[in-house]
Amino acid sequence: MDNPGFTERVFSGIQPSGNLTLGNYLGAVKRFVEMQDDGIETVYCMVDLHAITVWQDPAELSRNTRELAAGFMACGLDPDRSILFNQSQVSAHAELGWIFNCVARLGWMNRMTQFKDRAGRNAERMSLGLYAYPSLMAADILVYHATHVPVGEDQKQHVELSRDIAAKFNHDFGVTFFPEPVPVIEGSATRIMSLRDGTKKMSKSDPSDMSRINLTDDADTISRKIRKARTDALPLPDSTDGLDGRPEAGNLVRIFAALGDMSESGVLEQFGGQPFSKFKPALAEIAVSTLKPISAEMRRLTGDPGEIDAILGRGADRAAAIANPILDQTFEILGTVRSRFRER
Ligand code: TYM
Repeated sequence: MDNPGFTERVFSGIQPSGNLTLGNYLGAVKRFVEMQDDGIETVYCMVDLHAITVWQDPAELSRNTRELAAGFMACGLDPDRSILFNQSQVSAHAELGWIFNCVARLGWMNRMTQFKDRAGRNAERMSLGLYAYPSLMAADILVYHATHVPVGEDQKQHVELSRDIAAKFNHDFGVTFFPEPVPVIEGSATRIMSLRDGTKKMSKSDPSDMSRINLTDDADTISRKIRKARTDALPLPDSTDGLDGRPEAGNLVRIFAALGDMSESGVLEQFGGQPFSKFKPALAEIAVSTLKPISAEMRRLTGDPGEIDAILGRGADRAAAIANPILDQTFEILGTVRSRFRER
C-alpha cells in the first residue's frame, strides 16, 4: 500500500478552457467513471483557476465550465456518487496553493516540461500563474488528502511534483500529514495523438480543429475527421510490433482499442492486413456510436444552466467540507494564528 494510514480517495481535474476532446475522454473522464464505481470516494473538479493562467474570455469561461460539467455527467459521472464542482468555489485550493508556492523549489518548477512546451520562446511574456500552475495542482490533490490521481501521460510529471511537495512539507515540519499521491495512468489511451500528426498530443488548444475529435462533434464531422486523419500507405500489421515507427497507425489502433474496451492486439487480430480504407469506416462507426449519446446528453444538460449551477454549488459545499478542515490543520502546523476559524 502506498499511503498507509490514509483513506483512499480519488481526485482529478480538467480545465474548462475549450472543448472536451476524445483525448480527455479516453485518457481521463472514462477512467473517472470507472473509478466512481470502484467504491472509493471520488472528487472531480473543473479547474477554472488553472484555465485563467492563460487569457480566458469571461463569457466563454462560464460557458465552458458549464459545458464541461455537462460533459462529465453525460459521460457517466453522477453528482450523487462523485463530488463534482468548479475549483474557484472552494477557496481552500488557492490558499493551499500559496502555501505550496513556499514549499516547492524554483529548481523543481524549472524542470516542468509542460511549462517549457507551452511557453516556448515566449516565457518572459507568460503569466506567473502559468509557471506556478503545478503547485496549485498539488494543492488541488492534497487539500483532499487524495491518494490516487487518474490522469493522462502528460500530467505524470505534475503528479510526481505533488508527491515531492507532500514529502518536503512532511519532512520540514516533522509530520506525516500529507499522503504522497500516485498517478493512475493505465490502458491504451494514456496519450491520444493528433489526427494530423501522430507525434503531437491531441489537444483542445491545437489551432486545427481537424487534429482532434470533440465530444460535441456531430456524426458527420467525426467521420470526416477520421477519414481525413493522416496515415501511411501500408496496410495494418498483424501484431503490435508492426506499429513501431508508425505513429499515426498506432494512434488509430489505440483509439479503436480504447473505444471498444479491447486490447491493441485484439484490434489487429480483426484488422491486420487490411488497408486504412477498411479500418477507418469501422473506427468512425465505433467513435460515433460511443460519442453520439454523450453529445446528445450534453446538449440536453446545457439547456438548463440553472440546474448545472445548482449541482456545482452543492458539489462545492461537499468539497469544502473535506478541504477546509485539512487547510485549517495545515495552518496549525505552519503556526499561523487562526483565532477567527476556531469554530469552523
Ligand atoms: P487538461 O485539462 O489539459 O486535461 C485533462 C485530462 O485529460 C488528459 N488528456 C489526455 N489524455 C490522453 N490523451 C490526450 N491527448 C490527452 N489530452 C489531455 C490529461 O492528462 C488530463 O488527465 N493540469 C491538468 C488539470 C488539473 C489536474 C489537477 C489534474 C489541475 N489540477 C489535479 C489532476 C489533478 C490539465 O491541464 O489537464
